[in-house]
Amino acid sequence: MAKRKLKKFAEVRSFDNCFFLSFEDSRAEGLPLKGKWHKDYFKNNNPIILELGCGKGEYTVGLAKRYPDKNFIGVDIKGNRIWTGAKAAVENKMNNVAFIRTRIDFIDVCFIAGEVSEIWITFPDPQPQLSRIRNRLTNMIFLNRYKKILSDDGIINLKTDSASFYEYTSEVITENKLELLDATNDLYADTTQRDEALTSIKTYYEKKFSEKGFKICYLKFKI
Ligand SMILES: C[S@@+](CC[C@H](N)C(=O)[O-])C[C@H]1O[C@@H](n2cnc3c(N)ncnc32)[C@H](O)[C@@H]1O
Repeated sequence: MAKRKLKKFAEVRSFDNCFFLSFEDSRAEGLPLKGKWHKDYFKNNNPIILELGCGKGEYTVGLAKRYPDKNFIGVDIKGNRIWTGAKAAVENKMNNVAFIRTRIDFIDVCFIAGEVSEIWITFPDPQPQLSRIRNRLTNMIFLNRYKKILSDDGIINLKTDSASFYEYTSEVITENKLELLDATNDLYADTTQRDEALTSIKTYYEKKFSEKGFKICYLKFKI
C-alpha cells in the first residue's frame, strides 16, 4: 500500500471525530455511541444527517458549514477517503461533524430507531451487474436498514451521475409505494427552485463525471 495512504489510515484513527465499526463489532454490541450521539458526542439535540458512501465527505462538511444547527455524519468503508473530510472538520474546529468507518450494511447498529433525520447518498457505486443488485445502496435491503434508524418523517436524498441507477431507484420508489418528494434526471438544466447546496456542493465523483458530460440526477423521497 502507498506510504501516503498508510499515513492517512494511521492519522484518521487518532481523530476525535472518527469512529470505527468492524464486522465483528457489528455482530456484538454495535457502535458504542448508538443511541447516545446527541448526549455523548454532539452535546445538543439538533437533527442528525448522514452522508452514506461519503468518500471525502464533501456533503458532510459542506452542509455542516451551511447548517451549524444540524449535526452531520459521513459513513464510508475507506478510511483514507474519510481522512480528507475529518481533517477539514478538525482544522475548521467544526463540532457538528463526525465520520464512521464501516460498511453501510451495518448502519442499523450505529444508531437507534429515530436517531437520524435525513440521509444523503452521494454518487453511489452504480453496481450495474444484475448479480450485484443487492449491493445497490437504494435496494430495499438497504432502504429497510435506513428505515430502522430514520425518524418517521425522515428523508432520503440521492445524487447520482448514473441514469440507470436513477431509473432503478425511481422504480424501487414506485414499486414499493414510497413517497416521492422531488425528482430530476438533469439537475443543472432543471429550473425548479431548490436548496443551493444541491448544486453548489460538488463531490469528487460529481466533478469527475460532470467533466465527462454525464447529467446529474437527483431524487428525494421518504420510506
Ligand atoms: C463512487 S464513490 C463516491 C464517493 C463520494 N460520495 C463522492 O461523490 O465523491 C462511492 C463510495 O461509497 C463507498 N461504499 C460503497 N459501498 C459501501 C458500503 N457498502 N459500505 C461503506 N462504504 C461503501 C466507497 O468506499 C466509495 O468511497
